[in-house]
Amino acid sequence: MQKIKTIVTGISFATALLVAAPVHADGHLEKAIEARQSLMKLYSFSLGQLGAMAKGTVAYDAAAASAAADSLAALAALDQGAMWPKGSDVAAMPGKTRAMTEIWSTYPEVQSKSKALVDASMAMAKVAGDGLPALQGALGDVGKSCGGCHKPFRVPK
Ligand code: HEC
Repeated sequence: MQKIKTIVTGISFATALLVAAPVHADGHLEKAIEARQSLMKLYSFSLGQLGAMAKGTVAYDAAAASAAADSLAALAALDQGAMWPKGSDVAAMPGKTRAMTEIWSTYPEVQSKSKALVDASMAMAKVAGDGLPALQGALGDVGKSCGGCHKPFRVPK
């Protein structure tokens, strides 16, 4: 996790939001949307494994819990700057994205939501292998950090 920590000390979310969107006719906005939606799916995959253990639908396994929590922390630490270009919000691209315009109009507010996930997932990665109660104790903050960004910044289905 040391390496991840080093990366996270830099601001990882949406660095490119501050840069004017380049005009491309190559579908780069669609690609960026697909990339961030794919990343979100990977978040869900790792979180789902941990949630199943926390709920008891899957037996707790320290190595598997650590692996999933490390993966989530690593995913959260990725630099997402290029995945959130201006002009890729739901107003500009309805039907393709659920990203609310407020992500850009209230920037850098979204960055604090992103940091909440980074912090919570790193805290969970530290303890996920220390037993089921430790995992359960850390998982709540991670789930809250997902919802904490979805509520203000993702259009409900
Ligand atoms: C910093 C803000 C933020 C955080 C933190 C965040 N999300 Fe998201 N999430 C979004 C936004 C915005 C969208 C809509 C993206 C789009 O449609 O372009 C989204 C979409 C999704 C989707 C739908 C992806 C798809 O296929 O369209 C899933 C699933 C998801 N998030 C899961 C998670 C989980 C699980 C976490 C926590 C581990 C999480 N998200 C944390 C902002 C966030």
